[in-house]
Amino acid sequence: MLPDSAQRSLAQELSFGVLRWYFRLDGIARLMMQRPLRRRDQDVYSLLLSGLYQLSFMDIPPHAAVHETVQVTKEMGKPWAAKLVNALLRSFQRQIPRFESAVEKDEVMRLAHPRWLLDTFRRDWPDFCERIARANNERPPMSLRVNALRMERHDYMKVLSAAGLQAVPLPHVPCGLRLEKAVPVALLPGFQAGDVSVQDGAAQLTGKLLQVREGMRILDACAAPGGKTCQLLEQFPALDITALDIDENRLERIAENLRRLGLQARLVAGDAAKPDGWWDGRLYDRILLDVPCSATGVIRRHPDIRVLRLPGDIESLTGRQAGILAAVWPLLAPGGILLYVTCSVLKSENTQQVSHHVDCKPDAEELVIDSSWGHACTFGRQILPGEDDMDGFYFACLKKRKC
Ligand SMILES: C[S@@+](CC[C@H](N)C(=O)[O-])C[C@H]1O[C@@H](n2cnc3c(N)ncnc32)[C@H](O)[C@@H]1O
Repeated sequence: MLPDSAQRSLAQELSFGVLRWYFRLDGIARLMMQRPLRRRDQDVYSLLLSGLYQLSFMDIPPHAAVHETVQVTKEMGKPWAAKLVNALLRSFQRQIPRFESAVEKDEVMRLAHPRWLLDTFRRDWPDFCERIARANNERPPMSLRVNALRMERHDYMKVLSAAGLQAVPLPHVPCGLRLEKAVPVALLPGFQAGDVSVQDGAAQLTGKLLQVREGMRILDACAAPGGKTCQLLEQFPALDITALDIDENRLERIAENLRRLGLQARLVAGDAAKPDGWWDGRLYDRILLDVPCSATGVIRRHPDIRVLRLPGDIESLTGRQAGILAAVWPLLAPGGILLYVTCSVLKSENTQQVSHHVDCKPDAEELVIDSSWGHACTFGRQILPGEDDMDGFYFACLKKRKC
């Protein structure tokens, strides 16, 4: 029997791995099975996929992988499935070259993404579709943000090194590091004391793009769990920040992060699309709008997105994004800047959304982001997943004209 921590990491490896390669494993399972399992036996199907994952991607000896997987059918109270799972896994093992060639011939299986998502990537990024999908199948790096109020990143690199952890600086951001090997946050020196946070490099671009100055009044309109609020405050602790989120439980996550880092912000529960319910009537110098999105830029971190996200979600998300953007725009002071952010790579949520807003609002003008990272879009700039070790993020900077 493995110790608890090893069992937990094996369970995590299996669940993340099956989700990461779901469309490949599911395709193979379908080729092998004469008919699908009943709805109530989807647990057996998931178990079968975990067996295929072990045989395809893990270093576990094949006989142990098959044996252990078959044993689970009994623990699940479905001993009838033992024979089936055993037969399918052994059949796979005997014919791996046949299945590999089937995978190569089928793009959905080969790139392990649903058809609709590959089609959307190809429509939006014709030259990058395959690259995006492959980056989504990689394991993400563990990226850190060193608390600028506490120390410089090269000093924290020394602290890490003394703890036996190696890291390299992230490009484009002053406080970012990439750990060479991911570790539980509890093992990061000074984490509880607020010396460091876990945050992707792209998310750390926010502070610079928002062109913040000390003392400004800022709205972070979709703030939880507070990564970007905290990053702004680490640069300028005297900012007057309102961190708004529709989800009260998630506001608690912001509070925890602020406490750990010794920072302060005004936390407000409310719907950004309905300012009447929470706005105090004073305009903001800066608005950060990190809207809810398809999260198609962070699939490598959340592999379940490729399975759970459906084409119909995109239309409802773009509707919500447009509603929030239109509702908070009047709250921005003339001369103020709004930074629109998503962790999506879909143009309907990004450049098209901003283009529509600029068309509708005569007082909105784009501030073109001139940088060495990402790809210039008609409006805004897109980082594709994996580029410069960053997640897929989109940024557009809008200024309100002084009329
Ligand atoms: C992408 S996350 C924000 C991440 C955050 N900015 C950070 O850096 O940690 C989007 C957030 O928007 C919130 N949200 C969704 N719809 C909202 C709305 N109508 N008004 C306010 N917040 C909303 C969600 O609860 C979620 O916490």
